[in-house]
Amino acid sequence: MRTKIKNIIITSTAKGGVGKTLFSCLIALSLKKKGYRVAMVDTDLMGPSLPNMLNLTGKLGGGPVEGILPPRTVDDIPVFSNEELMNVKSTCVMWRDDRIDSFISNTLEHLNFGGDIDYLIIDSPPSTGCPPQAVIGFARKNRIKHGFVLISEPYKVSLNSTSKAVSMVHNTKAPLIGVVENKLNGMSRITQFCKEQRVPYLGSIPYIHELPQLCDDGLRISSIPESVSSYIEPIIHRILLFYEEG
Ligand SMILES: Nc1ncnc2c1ncn2[C@@H]1O[C@H](COP(=O)(O)OP(=O)(O)OP(=O)(O)O)[C@@H](O)[C@H]1O
Ligand SMILES: [Mg+2]
Repeated sequence: MRTKIKNIIITSTAKGGVGKTLFSCLIALSLKKKGYRVAMVDTDLMGPSLPNMLNLTGKLGGGPVEGILPPRTVDDIPVFSNEELMNVKSTCVMWRDDRIDSFISNTLEHLNFGGDIDYLIIDSPPSTGCPPQAVIGFARKNRIKHGFVLISEPYKVSLNSTSKAVSMVHNTKAPLIGVVENKLNGMSRITQFCKEQRVPYLGSIPYIHELPQLCDDGLRISSIPESVSSYIEPIIHRILLFYEEG
């Protein structure tokens, strides 16, 4: 490992489009604003979203001696995404499943964030397979405190996928910090879900009309409106309690 990392927060679930990437960015920006040293890694190798959502324009640098030097956002957060490896934004890598685990593990070992990191935020694809398990393996090997935050919409199809993600986290014996309900548009169903699954409930975020445009423009600390922060901050407070205890 090139950079000392104190904590890893993994956002995840089994379903696509529920707000994992947005929530990862909002956590990273909030922690950075509070003065923590923050970095992000996009483990969504087939549909990376961090470069767009953070309006990343820089390129990867580094070499055998320095390791991998990822570009930084306007708020000075280093962000690795495999999209930065491509010269053309619309081109994909034809991934074979058996390469994903070693790509993520090797990348994490060789990333150089330019200084110690308090919180590494991992954005995950919709998956209960390789990407989250590769991150757990890296965290365990390097004795880094880590935990999962699952994001769910309050609908049956999403809740069903979230229960699979809960099962994945339990099977790996990794800590589950809790579940966040996103795009709430009516009655909340996560508190009941969390009770049934016996997992912590972290909070709910409603559907906020400004968010899609803000994501398209590129999120930065100064662009997050109070209407968004008021929902995010209590959730982040609960996440920090997990990392600060013991
Ligand atoms: N609370 C919200 N209010 C309004 N729009 C939202 C909210 N949460 C997410 N969105 C929008 O939904 C879209 C999808 O969000 P996002 O990319 O974060 O989902 P995802 O779970 O990471 O998707 P994928 O599984 O493809 O990685 C984004 O355009 C984002 O702006
Ligand atoms: Mg995503």
